[in-house]
Amino acid sequence: MNHTLRDLNEADLPTLADLVNQVYVEPMGLTQLRDWYNRRPEGQIRRSQVVVDPAGRLIGYNLFQHEAWEEEGLFYVEVIVKPDWQGRGWGSWLYDEMVTAVATLGGKKLKGDVRDDRPDWLRFAQNRGFSIRRHWFESVIDLGGFDERPFTGLVESLEASGIRFFSLADVGDTEEARRELHAVNAAVSADTPGFEGQFMPFEAFNEMFNTASWFRPKGQILAADGDEYIGLAAVSYFAETNSMHNEITGVLPDYRGRKIAQALKLLTIRYAKAFGAATIRTNNDSENAPMLAINRKLGYKPRPGKYLLHKQL
Ligand SMILES: CC(C)(COP(=O)(O)OP(=O)(O)OC[C@H]1O[C@@H](n2cnc3c(N)ncnc32)[C@H](O)[C@@H]1OP(=O)(O)O)[C@@H](O)C(=O)NCCC(=O)NCCS
Repeated sequence: MNHTLRDLNEADLPTLADLVNQVYVEPMGLTQLRDWYNRRPEGQIRRSQVVVDPAGRLIGYNLFQHEAWEEEGLFYVEVIVKPDWQGRGWGSWLYDEMVTAVATLGGKKLKGDVRDDRPDWLRFAQNRGFSIRRHWFESVIDLGGFDERPFTGLVESLEASGIRFFSLADVGDTEEARRELHAVNAAVSADTPGFEGQFMPFEAFNEMFNTASWFRPKGQILAADGDEYIGLAAVSYFAETNSMHNEITGVLPDYRGRKIAQALKLLTIRYAKAFGAATIRTNNDSENAPMLAINRKLGYKPRPGKYLLHKQL
């Protein structure tokens, strides 16, 4: 019997978790993978296949995915081969199958990412016409050793100047509050270096909060001036790794340079620590000087990052 290529199914997810964790810098728990597998927002186009050996062991997988709010013809793609099976043509097979299907669906542009400490994996992508668009740095704080003394008084001095800090849970996690949080998230995301395209519409955002196992209303920290939401720092919780992830931090342009982002990030760290998480992580574009400066100040330690890649079909 030969190796077979077939669609990924739910029973593959534990083995897939094991496979991706041999490649990703940031571990991916089974719950997170199940969230992704079961999340099918309207208009999403997605297919994932696996190669299994004659004994039924999964040795590689591919994925393409397009969201309804993304630029027409743009697909996120991924190919992963188990490390001890690399260099034997499985990746090329998985890639060719994936790219042929994307082209049939009218795909025009592919995006993906690769670790920045694996030149061989980058070469695989570059040999297939991908080029580097951005460089993202990952960093982490071990919360057990976090010392918040250098930031004493930071939140209080901003409060004295009229800025309020609270979480989505503090305001009842209502639809109205989620809409305001979505609006500030969309505005600051558009200003993030390297951000392209559209931020997801409220309906998809809301549905994601309703279904994701990582969502914690207390982890959506907001800053407001009067009633206007002017900044946020959002963290997700991943139980299997007992880790928090700071997904985004942003402040509206008129309020920048007042240390509001530092205070927001400090509150995420305080929340993560009080929750009992072991670590808090973040990913940032190499050209985001203010954010990298804040991270250094807070004690985030660098980890291998990733190159974001693009290819025109
Ligand atoms: C990044 C961002 C959140 C910073 O918000 P902010 O409230 O202005 O940040 P703060 O005032 O708390 O701190 C900014 C720090 O960056 C430093 N900084 C600013 N520009 C810098 C530069 N070009 N090089 C190095 N440091 C810089 C400032 O000196 C300040 O540090 P300091 O207090 O020690 O002097 C804000 O610019 C933003 O919303 N950008 C768009 C969204 C985004 O990119 N988010 C990050 C992706 S998750």
